[in-house]
Amino acid sequence: MIKRLLRRFQPALSTLSSLDAYARWAVSYPPQAHNPLMQAEQAAMLDLLPPVAGAVVLDLAGGTGRYGLLARERGARLVIELDNSAAMLARNPLPCRALATAEALPLPDASLDGIVCALALGHLPRLMPALAEISRVLKSGGWALISDFHPLLYLSGGRRTFTTPDGQTYAVEHYPHLYSDYHQAARQANLVIDDVAEPRRTPPSQRHHLPVVMVFRLVKPASR
Ligand SMILES: C[S@@+](CC[C@H](N)C(=O)[O-])C[C@H]1O[C@@H](n2cnc3c(N)ncnc32)[C@H](O)[C@@H]1O
Repeated sequence: MIKRLLRRFQPALSTLSSLDAYARWAVSYPPQAHNPLMQAEQAAMLDLLPPVAGAVVLDLAGGTGRYGLLARERGARLVIELDNSAAMLARNPLPCRALATAEALPLPDASLDGIVCALALGHLPRLMPALAEISRVLKSGGWALISDFHPLLYLSGGRRTFTTPDGQTYAVEHYPHLYSDYHQAARQANLVIDDVAEPRRTPPSQRHHLPVVMVFRLVKPASR
């Protein structure tokens, strides 16, 4: 109750574009799950992650390399890191990395066994361009593991925020994508939703114990 009242008297947060936000956030963004939402997300992602030993894996919008590092630890043959933030990539320790947008991947058709894309597609207003690119660069039978800020959490007022080292808190540009949006975009991109998870954070937050992220495992059907 008191928290709700206090929130009402707090000035509204400024919302930064994704590029501006990650330029400022990069300096304090470690390649580990560094808050309860990310911890719930990572547990669900690792539950659905197919075996990566010997695989060529893209960490798309990989930021400072959290999932690329996990894929390398699990024996991936090659991990490629792509992100559209130079500041995030500058803090990414993996050697094979490049600046690129998820909507135009600088990779050949059918060149990857798997793709991880964590907590990034919500920064894009439309899913289809990125899902079409994901499908194009996957081999037949390849998989994509995607997480996104849960639309229920966003639509009930939850925001993606960060605080700079000098104490300024900002919200980051976000577009809520519903399950049906993923379903439709995946179908149009010739990807099949193979599994879904909607973890809640533990311990529960005050927001009615809503799920915090959606996690999808998509598969590109083997060509006949
Ligand atoms: C919440 S961070 C997640 C970073 C990393 N995947 C992780 O989970 O630790 C979102 C990342 O998406 C990147 N990003 C946002 N829009 C993008 C786009 N259109 N193309 C590529 N990367 C993008 C940002 O620069 C940022 O590094």
